[in-house]
Amino acid sequence: MAKKKILVLHGPNLNLLGKRQPEIYGRLTLQQINAQIRALAKELGLNVEVRQSNDEGELVTWIQQAPKEFGAIILNPAAYTHTSIALKDAISAVEIPTIEVHISNIHKREEFRKHSFVAEAAVGQITGFGAQSYLLGLRAAAQQL
Ligand code: DQA
Repeated sequence: MAKKKILVLHGPNLNLLGKRQPEIYGRLTLQQINAQIRALAKELGLNVEVRQSNDEGELVTWIQQAPKEFGAIILNPAAYTHTSIALKDAISAVEIPTIEVHISNIHKREEFRKHSFVAEAAVGQITGFGAQSYLLGLRAAAQQL
């Protein structure tokens, strides 16, 4: 049977949500967003584990280890979206699907945010729906299990 557990990874600076550029990222804290993710997971009958790291290497390690326990990954790579070949390679290396999410619409912002290395390896990208992006990501992940 497919593993029903989903790993949600938040990248760098997302621990500052609520205080960080609220005009772009909203006023919800990471804890509040995580509570919404857990509530929807419960409704959908899914198990979720949520982690945040400011460290690229730690995110790579978590992605590498994910298939042992999880059936899909939801990843907001934050600034590493636009820089990290290591994250893209880790996603490509594991056999479980990764869904890329962003709170803001990265295509409507600075030029450098328009390119995502992660998108080249992810199943798809959900961007611009605020905290809802994670909830849409969870529904997409459920379909991938
Ligand atoms: C972000 C968008 C990135 O460009 C930025 O570096 C972030 C957050 C988002 O969720 O909108 O830190 O991934």
